Amino acid sequence: MFSTRRIRIFDTTLRDGEQAPGIDLTVEQKVRIARQLQRLGVDVIEAGFPASSEGEFIATKKILEEVGDSVEVTGLARANKNDIDKGIEAGLSSIHVFIATSDIHLKYKLKLTREQVLDRIYESVRYAKSHGLVVEYSPEDATRTDEDFLIQAVKTAVEAGADRVNIPDTVGTMYPFKFYDLIKKVVNATSGRIVSVHCHNDFGLATANSLAGVQAGARQVHVTVNGIGERAGNASLEEVVMALKKLMDYEVGVKTWLLYDTSRLVSELSGVPVPYFKAIVGENAFGHEAGIHVHGVIENPLTYEPMSPEEVGNFRRLALGKHSGIHGLRKILEEDGIHLDDEKLKAVLQEVKRMADTGKKITAEDAKRIASKYLNT
Ligand code: KIV
Ligand code: ZN
Repeated sequence: MFSTRRIRIFDTTLRDGEQAPGIDLTVEQKVRIARQLQRLGVDVIEAGFPASSEGEFIATKKILEEVGDSVEVTGLARANKNDIDKGIEAGLSSIHVFIATSDIHLKYKLKLTREQVLDRIYESVRYAKSHGLVVEYSPEDATRTDEDFLIQAVKTAVEAGADRVNIPDTVGTMYPFKFYDLIKKVVNATSGRIVSVHCHNDFGLATANSLAGVQAGARQVHVTVNGIGERAGNASLEEVVMALKKLMDYEVGVKTWLLYDTSRLVSELSGVPVPYFKAIVGENAFGHEAGIHVHGVIENPLTYEPMSPEEVGNFRRLALGKHSGIHGLRKILEEDGIHLDDEKLKAVLQEVKRMADTGKKITAEDAKRIASKYLNT
């Protein structure tokens, strides 16, 4: 039994992440990522959408065979028997059933009345439960749904036996204070079931909204590695995990030191580069150039780093440029066994800055080359 401080990490890289245009993973690639997610220690892997294609069906089956013994593997299903049966045929014992609840989706996409949607929720969740599945129900577009109807929908799912209720901010229109209030109401309406949140990043608020959901009582968060997903993506696994752990003092099962390698694997296989300034796993997440910062970090990294790069498997990168100071230069040179007195270091620094002022990117190699002129002089 998890403590109340333990937050479940539901990874949907292989389902919602892969749904993004331009990302098409082969079965083998999906299995490789699933193995890494299992090593990483997520609580649930959403392997795919088994009814959507033969490849998705096979991938779900294979992922289950590979990692299903040690981590919950689930698959997406629309609220109908056919999709749930496909999941069962793939071997799943956990299913993620969804149907939209907002009026805009009911009118233009589903062409159903609210009453009909409630029936579909009840019937599909009941059907999945009658086959012994763990069931998570999502009211798609929950955050643009009439609030009373949303509560009716989640209560219907709970009544039909749903084990968890997930609240998707499908087009990312929440902001933290508003989402907090909504999740509080959902938590109060779900009779102790695990409430989960699923936030999209259309306004750059997916991580912040996910944290607000947890603050309000959600005990599970849907995330993707590197935040890949539809449009501006989903809440990113690495950001949510580290913020929960370091800022809010929650417990997570993720082995954080594997975050960087996981990020690079997903980037390589999905073909989507990790942004240079990406929090936690970006190349510059632990980069320092300004003399004052580098000096601080050399004395004590906590001066300019809120966590250690080792904790997330990333690296500290000390750069040289026009903002550099003597401490950073000394450190970079000394790591290569080059020791110069302060006067010579100042001369090297002047040359480094002159070069940087021309717009050139200065590497450690450049600095060593300049420094070599001052050795033995
Ligand atoms: O964003 C969304 O609404 C989804 C659901 C299928 C959960 O991905
Ligand atoms: Zn989504």
